[in-house]
Amino acid sequence: MGEGSLMKLALHQMDILPGRGEANRRKILQAISSLDADLHILPELAESGYARSRLQFEEHCEEFSSLEIYQEFVEHRNTALIMGLPLKEGYALYNAAVLLRPKEEAVFYRKIHLFDREKNCFDPGHLPPEVHEHRGMKLGMMICFDWVFPEMARSLALQGADLIAHPANLVMPGLCQTSMKTRALENAVFVATANRIGREEFPDGSKLCFTGESQVLSPRGERLLRLSAGDEGSELVNIDPREARDKMITAGNHLMEDRRPELYRLEGQ
Ligand code: ACM
Repeated sequence: MGEGSLMKLALHQMDILPGRGEANRRKILQAISSLDADLHILPELAESGYARSRLQFEEHCEEFSSLEIYQEFVEHRNTALIMGLPLKEGYALYNAAVLLRPKEEAVFYRKIHLFDREKNCFDPGHLPPEVHEHRGMKLGMMICFDWVFPEMARSLALQGADLIAHPANLVMPGLCQTSMKTRALENAVFVATANRIGREEFPDGSKLCFTGESQVLSPRGERLLRLSAGDEGSELVNIDPREARDKMITAGNHLMEDRRPELYRLEGQ
């Protein structure tokens, strides 16, 4: 597929069983094999589950460090894949997302804004978010709670992202899904949130309920695809990356060129 052509996105929403890496991997492979797409997007921590301890995430990394089976999939099917996973690098442990493309090195984004108890497990990402290319489309990655920080989407848009891929394990019903319409509109980018469903419990008995409603938004903030609140599902949508390159929000207003960064006090007190 050449520059400027339609891109077929596959969005995958699933339940994830904590500590059942092998079963989760089988489910992921089955889901991505079921659709022909240019890019597959899966939830945050898609193989490991979410309500785990640092030690449990480290053990998962030891057992499932190889991404070879997914790399084989993208080579064989001539596609690309973005999914969330724990990433161990030396003594550091990150809540990360990986981008796999044919004949390319894996690229990782390490979650910058950790949510609540994630701070007990993961080190915060220490590198700025970046944009990568796949078939002429520019891709940025954010993970779940990063949605609360508008600087993330703006930074990716300023780097030329056409699409923000957003693996998630959302627990606050509807908030992100609504806010991301603004992120898409104010930056004129496509946004694809791949959320999960199901429940998990921490050892102290507190529960998390994941909210589904995975979605793809257009650069005008329109919902192009929405999955249900409670069911697993995999769906395709066609997007044209060129739509994200038109940054005129009115005939006289360019979303990026009309900014006044010299007047924004971003550091506060
Ligand atoms: C989240 O960042 N997983 C809520």
